[in-house]
Amino acid sequence: MKKEVYLDYNSTTPIDPRVKEKYLEALEIFGNPSNVYKYGRDAKKQLEQSRKTIAEIFNVDKNTIIFTCGGTMANNISIFGLSKVYGKEKRHIICSMIEHPSCLNTVRELERSGYKVTYLPVDRYGVVRLDILEKSITSETFLIVCMAVNNETGSIQPIEEIAKLAREKNILFHCDSVQVVGKEKINLDNVEVTTFSASAHKFYGPKGVGFLYLREGVKLGPIIFGGHQEREIFPGTENLPSIISMAYALELSYLNIEEEKKREYKIKNMIYENLINMYPNLKLNGSFDKCVANTLNVSFVGKLNTEIINKLDNLGVYAGTGSACKTSEDTPSHVLLAMGLSKIEYQGAVRISIGRFTKEEDVPEIIEAFREALK
Ligand SMILES: Cc1ncc(COP(=O)(O)O)c(C=O)c1O
Repeated sequence: MKKEVYLDYNSTTPIDPRVKEKYLEALEIFGNPSNVYKYGRDAKKQLEQSRKTIAEIFNVDKNTIIFTCGGTMANNISIFGLSKVYGKEKRHIICSMIEHPSCLNTVRELERSGYKVTYLPVDRYGVVRLDILEKSITSETFLIVCMAVNNETGSIQPIEEIAKLAREKNILFHCDSVQVVGKEKINLDNVEVTTFSASAHKFYGPKGVGFLYLREGVKLGPIIFGGHQEREIFPGTENLPSIISMAYALELSYLNIEEEKKREYKIKNMIYENLINMYPNLKLNGSFDKCVANTLNVSFVGKLNTEIINKLDNLGVYAGTGSACKTSEDTPSHVLLAMGLSKIEYQGAVRISIGRFTKEEDVPEIIEAFREALK
């Protein structure tokens, strides 16, 4: 049987075998961290150790890390929570047009409830327009929402500059960091975000677990009600095996991140060069370099991405269109639309996202599959 090749790491990553082992071990720690007897104390110790491991990676205090059940939840809790506390007198939010639905739809919900929202456009590389951001700020603005890296194009957003501007203007900044955590180093001393979100299944950890960072001194109004866990921001008995293995997955991701980035960049480059030789009408969506090393979004102009992806699927090569729940024909990607792609361009867009288990030796097979799929 032909080897299968997975090219959709931005959608989700396979669990690293070492993380899986850690998860299975952690299943044995069955105590509830809220209990005061030994089993509870043992569980609590592991919970707090995981929090410390994560906090140290970002150079922040451990109490700023709050565990959640994934990126969507972390984004919802942050945006609604900040609005509840700081969006009473000031009612204006600025949100990038290319956010993941877990931020975009949260902001839209706030808009429906009476907040004023400015949707921040991007340039043709899919990078938010800082000049327009600056002009959009009013005395009413209390919150900026902008992701660190876009999931569809891999484009890196100028979050340091946004954070600086937000601080100068005394505005809060929520940064969806789901696609950057585990891919690039982030030093929260340089990037003063108010809140950020992360999700373990994007860095070789289990699904349904993530965390948010909440800057010291900032409050989140509760949107979920329950016990005292996770500072009452995300109450409920903690998913300890997932949390323990997430912390371990994060540690592993940052162990040799620079070498891994170089390796992935090289493979991405090989794929791109081959594809452009094969299909001269190929359009790169975004910038090749102002982009995370693993992501390549290209349009096979004149072809339909759904057809390409289905054919690749039959050949055992799995890539995506970039946005999980959309077909290019009737609901085009809001990200590619914001970048100004024409219909013929966005209809042919394919996202190739590689990762830890992609090998240089896979490239000929990948290219052959594309050749076949494009026939
Ligand atoms: C940028 C971004 N934000 C948020 C999410 C949601 O994360 P989760 O799947 O953990 O809810 C994703 C997942 O695709 C994402 O890519």
